[in-house]
Amino acid sequence: MAELGKDINRAKQLLDHGELVAIPTETVYGLAANALDATAAARIFAAKNRPSFDPLIVHVATAMRVHELVTDFPDQAQALAASFWPGPLTLVLPKKNHIPDLVTAGLPTVGVRCPSHELTLELLHLLDYPLAAPSANPFGYVSPTRPEHVQEQLGSQVAYILDGGPCRVGVESTIVGFADGPVIYRLGGVAVEEIENVVGRVRVMTHSSSNPVAPGQLASHYAPARQIVLGNIAELLTQHPNQKVALLRYHKRLPDTPVPQIVLSPSGSLEEAAQNLFAALRQFDKMDVTLVLAELVPDTGIGRAINDRLRRAATSR
Ligand code: TXA
Ligand code: MG
Repeated sequence: MAELGKDINRAKQLLDHGELVAIPTETVYGLAANALDATAAARIFAAKNRPSFDPLIVHVATAMRVHELVTDFPDQAQALAASFWPGPLTLVLPKKNHIPDLVTAGLPTVGVRCPSHELTLELLHLLDYPLAAPSANPFGYVSPTRPEHVQEQLGSQVAYILDGGPCRVGVESTIVGFADGPVIYRLGGVAVEEIENVVGRVRVMTHSSSNPVAPGQLASHYAPARQIVLGNIAELLTQHPNQKVALLRYHKRLPDTPVPQIVLSPSGSLEEAAQNLFAALRQFDKMDVTLVLAELVPDTGIGRAINDRLRRAATSR
């Protein structure tokens, strides 16, 4: 079991010694280490069982700190940082040499992000190095949105869990790179429409299955243990009559059925649905069911990121 608390000085002390600390962000919990220390970063890969081709996101206290990490911070990237940081946006930019190759998986670019969570921002301001932090889950599994999710899966691998409560956004950051203009590599907490309001039309390239730029692009990423089938739930129920099923609904329970159900947003808000999504997927994995029947949510705003995660969770492995 990892120690759990809100003590940023304790977190700093451990990080200064090259140890791993789980940190809260507004999107999901991260598994953090000194991004400029290859030995510390290697511990992240080992703890997550993460393949070395999957680069880490580097977290900074302010946009000013990005200049220390990249050789070019283009105007469009700066405009996005000014609009959405601290917040759920990762910018992919050409890296400086002192960032260990392990952190960027040998890529010439680095993903940088200023997260919006009081505790983690305070911690980042205390440190004299940035924090490399992927989501704090075993590789390929659903990201953690509550401290107990980290404790359950990685409690024996991390020295300390900084307890920031449940994550406010609930899906990972939107990843934007620049190649002939802005490109979205992963749908996330900042909606495509919001990005386009700042930089104009963007390309969305979230499906390049071989040699993905962002392994968040792998079709079967974010997979829970239970098999998930997407579609119209009433129809799916008639197609799977003899199975132990549970239902994942957007905002209303399906009436007249004894089958267990989780409703993502009783108030019918996509933001609330995003907050609850990963905890719901984890809950199904603890239920005595063989199949989860799920419906997509409206495909607008953060709904696009929710649907992206549902489709990946449903891709059979
Ligand atoms: O919201 C988030 O981004 C969370 C919190 C902890 O900040 N982090 C997160 O990290 O989701 P992770 O490692 O689970 O996903 C990071 C994604 C990976 O798919 C990785 O390949 C991609 O970011 N990435 C990192 N650096 C990249 C780069 N230089 N070029 C392209 N993709 C990159
Ligand atoms: Mg992840």
